[in-house]
Amino acid sequence: MDSALEWHAAHAALSWQLEMGIDETLAEAPIDRFALEEAARAKAAAPVVAKAEAPAPVPPAPEVDAVAEARAMADAAGDLEALRAALAAYEHCELKKGARNLVFSDGVPGARVMIVGEAPGRDEDREGRPFVGRAGHLLDLMLATIGLSREENVYITNVLPWRPPQNRDPKPDEIAMMQPFLFRHIALAKPEVLVVVGNISCQALLGKRGITRLRGHWTEAQGLPALPMFHPAYLLRTPSAKRESWSDLLSLKARLG
Ligand code: URA
Repeated sequence: MDSALEWHAAHAALSWQLEMGIDETLAEAPIDRFALEEAARAKAAAPVVAKAEAPAPVPPAPEVDAVAEARAMADAAGDLEALRAALAAYEHCELKKGARNLVFSDGVPGARVMIVGEAPGRDEDREGRPFVGRAGHLLDLMLATIGLSREENVYITNVLPWRPPQNRDPKPDEIAMMQPFLFRHIALAKPEVLVVVGNISCQALLGKRGITRLRGHWTEAQGLPALPMFHPAYLLRTPSAKRESWSDLLSLKARLG
């Protein structure tokens, strides 16, 4: 048969099948429909095996109130060593994971003057002591001009005991977590006056920023006289501001008598 005839014959055969109501193409291989039916019957008769019970959903971990926990741990500390241990055991501040050392304090506990800085930088993180880098060196020089030193009569700490990555500003929740420790630190160190250096420290202790406006004006923090001052790191960048800091140092000296 030539191909045109084959096509017409096939077309006629398919049209006839459609007329007959055939709506399914047959597979190339034969299908044993008896066997299929048998299998379906066997499946229906098979006992229903109980599905393995899905494990009970794990209840979500109770939300931790990081600030409340900080407060409980800080308030339980009876002395400065216990407070340092409490901070070392506190696990809710992400900064701890990236820091090499806990930077707790330096100087003389119980000194009349307590300086509160912001956060450790690279040098402080490495040494585990506050204000040991360039800003710390300048701070020492400034204190020396009024007869103060961390070796004899000044106690120093920071709002944050761990270095923030790339020295970024601490986030509000990080400050909030560290506040109870800072407040307890002040209560245990019992200074006569606080020197609050930089905006972060003003935020943590005075609840406000704006160091240019605040500096040089005695105020109160944690029931103590507090003097906000420019941060020595700012003075390194802005030497012209040293004049104001000199005046603030004289004010501190006068307050101490
Ligand atoms: N700046 C701070 O505020 N604290 C330090 O310890 C070092 C630099």
